[in-house]
Amino acid sequence: MVITIRELEEKDIPSCVEMTITSFPWTAYGLTAGQATKFFLERLSKQLVFVAENEGEVVGFIALKKNVLFANYIRRLVVSEKHRSLGIGSKLLTFVEELTLKEDHLPNVFLLTSTQNLRAITFYLRNNYQIIGKIKDFVDTGLDEYILWKSFGTINGLGKYH
Ligand SMILES: CC(C)(COP(=O)(O)OP(=O)(O)OC[C@H]1O[C@@H](n2cnc3c(N)ncnc32)[C@H](O)[C@@H]1OP(=O)(O)O)[C@@H](O)C(=O)NCCC(=O)NCCS
Repeated sequence: MVITIRELEEKDIPSCVEMTITSFPWTAYGLTAGQATKFFLERLSKQLVFVAENEGEVVGFIALKKNVLFANYIRRLVVSEKHRSLGIGSKLLTFVEELTLKEDHLPNVFLLTSTQNLRAITFYLRNNYQIIGKIKDFVDTGLDEYILWKSFGTINGLGKYH
């Protein structure tokens, strides 16, 4: 398996929509195909969504919101169900971490994940993210989210505060 990571193209959207709306937590949140499609269309050609491709097939994606709290915020990360546990999610995370540090010159990456998403929490902890807080009743009453943060240095260390 040779995984290539590249920017999202319009032809990738149906695969990305399908893997999102069939995955927890979006199944529980009732995200529709129309809403998911809008999410990708709004981000086309903005270098905010990157896909993982294996032999011409899109097998995962990562979406960003840039420069929030001297960090890049990982807005969404999904690997298609049949390609999980092969290291693709970790590759997408590493790609974004390197982009954050080397291209955007920001020292932090963070994301939110449902407190019920135990596999994702394990995955992020293994990738050296730290749980730094919990937001209660975030998506709906009783649906809490953890804030997971990974730091590569201080703001001053990257000369960003001036
Ligand atoms: C979380 C996710 C992106 C991880 O991607 P991945 O390609 O499976 O990750 P890796 O192969 O690099 O790491 C796998 C590890 O992550 C964890 N993991 C997370 N989700 C898993 C799943 N559905 N099946 C198996 N392992 C999972 C396990 O600890 C696993 O370790 P293991 O392979 O030794 O069992 C992927 O499981 C996924 O798309 N889940 C559904 C959507 C989601 O929850 N996204 C994150 C929300 S913020």
